[in-house]
Amino acid sequence: MLIEEINLIKEDAQGLINQSGTLKELEEIKIKFLGKKAKLSQILKSLGSVSKEERIIIGLHANRVKNVLEENIKNKTEILKQKQEEKSFQEEVLDLTFPGKRFSIGHFHPLTLVAQEIIEIFIGLGFEVVDGPEIESDYYNFEALNIGKDHPARDMWDSFYLEEKTLLRTHTSPVQIRVMRERQPPLRVVSYGKCYRRDAVDATHSWMFHQLEGFMADKEVSFADLKGILTAFAAAFFGKERKTKFIPAYFPFTEPSAEMSIDCFLCIGKGCKACHYSGWLEILGSGMIHPQVFRNVNYDSEKYSGFAFGMGIERIAMLKYGINDIRLFFENDLRFLRQF
Ligand code: FA5
Repeated sequence: MLIEEINLIKEDAQGLINQSGTLKELEEIKIKFLGKKAKLSQILKSLGSVSKEERIIIGLHANRVKNVLEENIKNKTEILKQKQEEKSFQEEVLDLTFPGKRFSIGHFHPLTLVAQEIIEIFIGLGFEVVDGPEIESDYYNFEALNIGKDHPARDMWDSFYLEEKTLLRTHTSPVQIRVMRERQPPLRVVSYGKCYRRDAVDATHSWMFHQLEGFMADKEVSFADLKGILTAFAAAFFGKERKTKFIPAYFPFTEPSAEMSIDCFLCIGKGCKACHYSGWLEILGSGMIHPQVFRNVNYDSEKYSGFAFGMGIERIAMLKYGINDIRLFFENDLRFLRQF
């Protein structure tokens, strides 16, 4: 009787073990068939009341069934665990089509963007790009550019001197001298970089700013070439619809000299506060390279002629983007910088 009952328990348990689909179900089966209150445990406990022979036979059988069921549950546990792992692996599998996290990467400073755009235009006009040092000698910054020691024009460039004859360059024009001393015409060169002046800081002045210098030296370069190149630049950078004009100016290293202006972007030439009611905004200084500058670099000023120009990049960027204070470029306020 008891043997049959044990066999029924075994069948019943094995059926349920085979059907079980989760570890939780299996745990419940284990408790039901092998736990302290399980029928099999109760049969084993009740063996005291049966004969010794029966006790041995039934006891052995019950323990064997118990071991078989334990083994079955263990095997099924392994199978279910593996299935669960496979399922979670499939669910967690790397989805390459899932949109990635965006990293915020930096971008160029607006002054660099403006300088790059201008340089590209001049490269398109046949110019090459050359670098020059920010720490300059008095000779390159002034003397070779026809600005002698006591020349009154030195007041135009209030300088930071490091030593008696060494200073932070006040403009990019010394690059002209460096290039011409080393190479012969024909030359078409632009140079971009930092300049320093002891100017009081205000909305349009900074003690450090950027200039872009350019010059051309060859046989028979004329003022018409200067006008042609600079007008082409202004049309490419500011737009063809903008008007330009040249007005006489003075620089010791160019003769004649001229400042180039464009019609005011705000009032389109009518006159407003931004253009001091003139309708025009100055964008660069320029002129025909002075014969004395050519002599200083050992060029034959009878054979060669050339023009040069220099523009302040901050002022050009201010005009292009309608920025009203130069200090914004140097404050590193991300709310400002992110707009470019
Ligand atoms: C010069 O520096 C000449 N070297 C330019 C030149 C080159 C003329 C070649 C002829 C031939 P100027 O001092 O005007 O010129 O400066 C040129 C530009 O630099 C100015 O128009 C202005 O845009 C910019 N600039 C000058 N001083 C400052 C300053 N303190 N802060 C910001 N921009 C400045």
